[in-house]
Amino acid sequence: MKNPHLIRRAVDHVTRNRYRYVTLAFAFLLCKCGVEKVGGWEASKLECNTTNLPAEALPGVGPLRIAFLTDLHNSPAQFNKVVEVLRHKKPDLIIFGGDLVNADQRFRRTRWAVNSFRELTGIAPTFAILGNHDYEKLEQVERVLSTAGVKLLRNEAINWQTPSGTRLRIVGLGDWNEGDEAPQRCLLKNGEDTTPVLLLSHDPESRWGLRDYDWDIMLSGHNHGGQIGIPFTDVYLSFRSSMPAGLYSFEGNRQVFVSRGVGSVMGMRFFCPPELNIIELGTSPVRRTELPQSQP
Ligand SMILES: [Fe+2]
Repeated sequence: MKNPHLIRRAVDHVTRNRYRYVTLAFAFLLCKCGVEKVGGWEASKLECNTTNLPAEALPGVGPLRIAFLTDLHNSPAQFNKVVEVLRHKKPDLIIFGGDLVNADQRFRRTRWAVNSFRELTGIAPTFAILGNHDYEKLEQVERVLSTAGVKLLRNEAINWQTPSGTRLRIVGLGDWNEGDEAPQRCLLKNGEDTTPVLLLSHDPESRWGLRDYDWDIMLSGHNHGGQIGIPFTDVYLSFRSSMPAGLYSFEGNRQVFVSRGVGSVMGMRFFCPPELNIIELGTSPVRRTELPQSQP
């Protein structure tokens, strides 16, 4: 054994100060439990937040109520709450923004997801895109969505007739982080068509590659608002994105809406509660965050 003298001194030191070390370990455990308890409690909450967009955001389409839920991350309890809220909100259209599962968790028992998605499709037409985590359990996720009657848009566009009888083009992209995004297959170039376009893309950072394509509003998630916010503000500590959560303008008159998401990873949040979003089109003034237009 190398340097037994040093080891003996260390053992003597710990033995002499054992009560201090036990107290420190106990305090650490207490703090850890407290943080997990508080973070877990917040992660199990669900806010329902409404964002009003002017009619010009999707010209000719409103009035329209869109429910947007994203980033469930394998959370049956949160999904039940979403269903309960949407039964009362009665949206015209429901969008799921991806990350049904957690990449590092099992997803064998899928009945809860099928049942909840079935409830949603009973409320309004429901469309979904994939999030980066979903690619780890792709077969199961696709099966859940198709069994429940949810239309998965993976680099696909559909023309949907709104309640007011106008046409809305809904375009869903594959995930940008997974290299599955193919806008050339489902988006038109600027100026080729005048149909309003609602674009679904899991990560808002994908927007930089979509500048030359024709779209009006993009719905995204992925960031979870960083899962940590500054108390009593709308500031979220998601350092990987310039759009952590909220409504942003992009390239002039385009809008990007980023949700904090319904679920969470690690099961903890701090001053950044989960949210279900209701987007009301064509009712009252818009609130948006102005951003620099240069690429970060
Ligand atoms: Fe996510």
